[in-house]
Amino acid sequence: MSATTATTALFQVQGLVKHFGALRATDDVSLAVNAGEIHALIGPNGAGKSTLVNLISGLHAPDAGRITLDGVDLTPLPMHARVRAGLSRCFQITSIFPKVTVLDNLLLAVQSSGGRHPGGSGRGLPRVLHTLLADRARDDALHAQAVSLAERVGLGGRLERLAGTLPHGAQRQLDVALALAAEPKLLLLDEPMAGMGPEDSERMTALIQTLKQDMAILLIEHDMKAVFALADRISVLVYGKVLTSGSVDEIRGNPQVQAVYLGTEDVA
Ligand SMILES: Nc1ncnc2c1ncn2[C@@H]1O[C@H](COP(=O)(O)OP(=O)(O)OP(=O)(O)O)[C@@H](O)[C@H]1O
Ligand SMILES: [Mg+2]
Repeated sequence: MSATTATTALFQVQGLVKHFGALRATDDVSLAVNAGEIHALIGPNGAGKSTLVNLISGLHAPDAGRITLDGVDLTPLPMHARVRAGLSRCFQITSIFPKVTVLDNLLLAVQSSGGRHPGGSGRGLPRVLHTLLADRARDDALHAQAVSLAERVGLGGRLERLAGTLPHGAQRQLDVALALAAEPKLLLLDEPMAGMGPEDSERMTALIQTLKQDMAILLIEHDMKAVFALADRISVLVYGKVLTSGSVDEIRGNPQVQAVYLGTEDVA
């Protein structure tokens, strides 16, 4: 067995390739995330980070390669089956329902967990949402689960707020809570700190740190302070390829990485 296949990593991506026309947006990417580990994926704009997340979550089909989670080959599975297998994601753009309360967003998520909350498509939503809420708000167990999720991400005091009226940082916290409803083994976070000031960013960093005991995390993030505070391992993606992987200290001290980021990010 080679070094990459001999691991017992919880999550593995092997030889993943994705073309968009002539562009090789994902170029033979392999990486592994161990249980209890935060693996950060960094790289300049357009490096292929979101494309990789879209391949992992099942939004795009790869041209080649394999994705496995806890011994299950996810590659042929559609998105909802990947969620059932233990994969959950937060989007680079928040996917909450802005016109319903925090609690109702969470009730929808927990009632559909196993099927994942229906955020994003919006098709036929109002009637479905109404029916689901009427049926499920009465269910004490679901209610308790929703409240517990809110508390877990620090929104326990804002259950009745309309989600769209929350400050940006709190909306991102809610987005994380929605992803947690499916009780994932691996959580994909695509730029959870995007658009945040330092205070919100620190709050989100602390939140992600608490999640680590229950799930592995693949974290895509431009905020280097957060990455260096959180990551057990970092992979650097450039032009669709993994330039290098290593510990925080190894990545910080890597001259190639510094060259890639020179003038755009502070990796010192
Ligand atoms: N659906 C698509 N069709 C065609 N090209 C795409 C598509 N999605 C992404 N690309 C291209 O693939 C490359 C990688 O894009 P991607 O969004 O994955 O980068 P990224 O690392 O997430 O960037 P950012 O840091 O800006 O979020 C870019 O050149 C982008 O223009
Ligand atoms: Mg992106």
